[in-house]
Amino acid sequence: MVAPLSGELKQFVAEHVVDRHNTNSVKWDLLQDKYGDANLLAMWVADMEFKAPQAVQDALVARAQAGTFGYSFTPQSYYDAFINWQKRRHEVTLQQDWIRFDTGVVNSLYRVVNWLTEPNEKVAVLQPVYYPFTEAIEHQGRKVVSVDLLNGDQGWQIDFANLEKTFQHEDIKLLLFCSPHNPVGRIWSEAELEAVLKLCHTYGVQLVSDEIHQDFEIGKQRFTSVLKVADGAYADQVIVLNAASKTFNLAALLNSHVIIPNEKLRQSYDAFAEGQHIVEGSLLGQVATEAAYNEGEAWFDKLLAVIRYNYQYLKDTLAENVPEITVSDLQGTYLSYVDLAPIIQPEETEKFIQETCGLAVDYGAWFSPKDQTYIRLNLATSPENVQTATDRLVTQLKQKRNR
Ligand SMILES: Cc1ncc(COP(=O)(O)O)c(C=O)c1O
Repeated sequence: MVAPLSGELKQFVAEHVVDRHNTNSVKWDLLQDKYGDANLLAMWVADMEFKAPQAVQDALVARAQAGTFGYSFTPQSYYDAFINWQKRRHEVTLQQDWIRFDTGVVNSLYRVVNWLTEPNEKVAVLQPVYYPFTEAIEHQGRKVVSVDLLNGDQGWQIDFANLEKTFQHEDIKLLLFCSPHNPVGRIWSEAELEAVLKLCHTYGVQLVSDEIHQDFEIGKQRFTSVLKVADGAYADQVIVLNAASKTFNLAALLNSHVIIPNEKLRQSYDAFAEGQHIVEGSLLGQVATEAAYNEGEAWFDKLLAVIRYNYQYLKDTLAENVPEITVSDLQGTYLSYVDLAPIIQPEETEKFIQETCGLAVDYGAWFSPKDQTYIRLNLATSPENVQTATDRLVTQLKQKRNR
């Protein structure tokens, strides 16, 4: 049994969790379109039911009340807030002139593929991986080469032997790397990151690290940015994408970062960006992000505690009732990757989840063709939703097992 939520966290949940129905929410208002059933409990899409910190709401209201929304630029105070956050939370020292803006990390994934590769060239990913990684490659006529993660007694691991073999034998231009890794929830250790960076260096593969989930440290493992590995020794060879949007629930405000320490690469990116006429960030996105980084830390630490609680509930309840089901060790992100294989057949996963359990999840099949029995559950929601989803899973899995 999981202990009840503390009074402080209960209050945080009561003050921040909202019903998002009828707010044009993809997660809640498009259930009918996506799954054919508007009444499912939405545990998909990586955003949250938590209202952003009060300081973010206040900053947006104040900016809205200024009443003008003409062309704008990024103020110095924004850079200071972002650089300070990276230093404070992650011990990453950013230089201001490394930073470029975009309107979302997925947009940037598409752009880096377009910028750094030619049609038909090969881009590596480590599947299972957040599906826009492969879409960014395939939609632009490039070729996906997956060096699949290994999943054994040690949990999800990078297959270094296969990565090296692939770099050796396939002409890989680019590695799209997810850190922390969605959907398996790994925070890569510094040693793992250094091993990847060494291979990229040896074989001339450009590494792009999507670090959008960097702030979600769920267990003991601390997040290390590729910018910080070996005291920054590899910073010059990497490109990092991140944003405040996962951390503070700001995805629709369309503001993200592209960080390029190497001057030549940056010049090349700037020339590419000019050719594409890339819009630099969004005014309201930057107002919200600056307020969040400056004044949202206490809010975020409480949110993290609620997510840890939700994960513990899911993990312990499944372990107690259906111990044959494996829940991937959630180190980073707020997305739990669960394998139903011992009880559910690959071809019945969707029917079981939607029709029997009444849940909307991200299916493992979206992340890798091999993961047909996996589901990804979003834990950045109320403990009540997590408990309902977990309890439905437990009841139905037990019934199915005993049939
Ligand atoms: C790894 C990863 N990258 C990018 C995104 C989306 O980023 P954005 O909304 O900035 O496009 C997500 C959202 O789930 C994600 O998990």
